[in-house]
Amino acid sequence: MINQKKSTPISPDLSISIGGLGLKNPVLLASGTCGYGMELDDLLDLDQIGGIIIKGLSIRPRPGNSPPRLVETPCGLLNSIGLENMGIEAFLRDKLPLLRNIKTPLIVNILGNSVEEYFEMARRLDGAEGIKAIEVNISCPNVKAGGIAFGTDPETAASVTHAVKKATGLPIIIKLTPNVTDITEIARKVASAGADAISLINTLLGMAIDIKFRRPALANVFGGLSGPAIKPVALRMVWQVVRAVDIPVIGIGGISTPDDALEFLMAGARAVEIGTATLIRPSTAEEVLTGIRDYMKTNNVQNVKNLRLPA
Ligand SMILES: Cc1cc2nc3c(=O)[nH]c(=O)nc-3n(C[C@H](O)[C@H](O)[C@H](O)COP(=O)(O)O)c2cc1C
Repeated sequence: MINQKKSTPISPDLSISIGGLGLKNPVLLASGTCGYGMELDDLLDLDQIGGIIIKGLSIRPRPGNSPPRLVETPCGLLNSIGLENMGIEAFLRDKLPLLRNIKTPLIVNILGNSVEEYFEMARRLDGAEGIKAIEVNISCPNVKAGGIAFGTDPETAASVTHAVKKATGLPIIIKLTPNVTDITEIARKVASAGADAISLINTLLGMAIDIKFRRPALANVFGGLSGPAIKPVALRMVWQVVRAVDIPVIGIGGISTPDDALEFLMAGARAVEIGTATLIRPSTAEEVLTGIRDYMKTNNVQNVKNLRLPA
């Protein structure tokens, strides 16, 4: 019988920092899939999660698009919710006070139809007790520029970043849309405009047709594709952006298991966000976290940053 010497199991360090914001671990809940935070309180231990990213807020309440606005596709979900939300004032008044008991940092996701609206949103969040960072969704249409999404034009993406940075001292995470030809061009622009971090990807534009009723399956015709179907695209873009900028990158897109998250961390993501998978199994984020920790113990990885592969 081989006399095996028992080695002391390591206790991995999962803590990370994003733009000066310290997080106890790199697993966050993605915007739009965890409501205003408290909705998941009975279904997972929110205190264990690295961060909660609140549903996208706008300057005024938005009713969203008409139904049908959710369609399942093979390995994915198409949504055209239309960024329905209660508006920033109602959030600050009615929801934020309830969230202050959670020990997990809250990050608010914002959207706007003009650079001025983004500025105003960031200004109102600045100094709001309990908010630790802002994630800026730049996938929205720029009304003043004929409806082209802010995130598809490098100059406009930089203008939004600049405006938001001017409005607040909170760390700013710019969330990129994948519906562009060269994601690194946009990433470089927002990084040099002062972004503290970049998160990607938002949903991929897609559609489905209901052949029984012979009409587009979504009332809005087009929607955003999310879920496991988009993971390889998201991973490729995260890999590219990590190597194009010097600021932290947060990976999002189809992460449903610990192995998925590990792939993003190996690609160089500082953290990951769990979106659609939470809608299917609300405890996914906790399971992903446990799986990352187990992998690090088994493979003797002391610090989560050491998971990153060399260039
Ligand atoms: C129903 C739904 C609503 C979403 N709402 C928002 C939102 O308000 N703001 C935002 O930046 N992203 C929103 N997203 C995008 C997700 O945060 C995430 O970037 C995307 O779904 C890809 O990740 P996943 O495949 O893990 O879902 C939404 C996604 C879904 C499925």
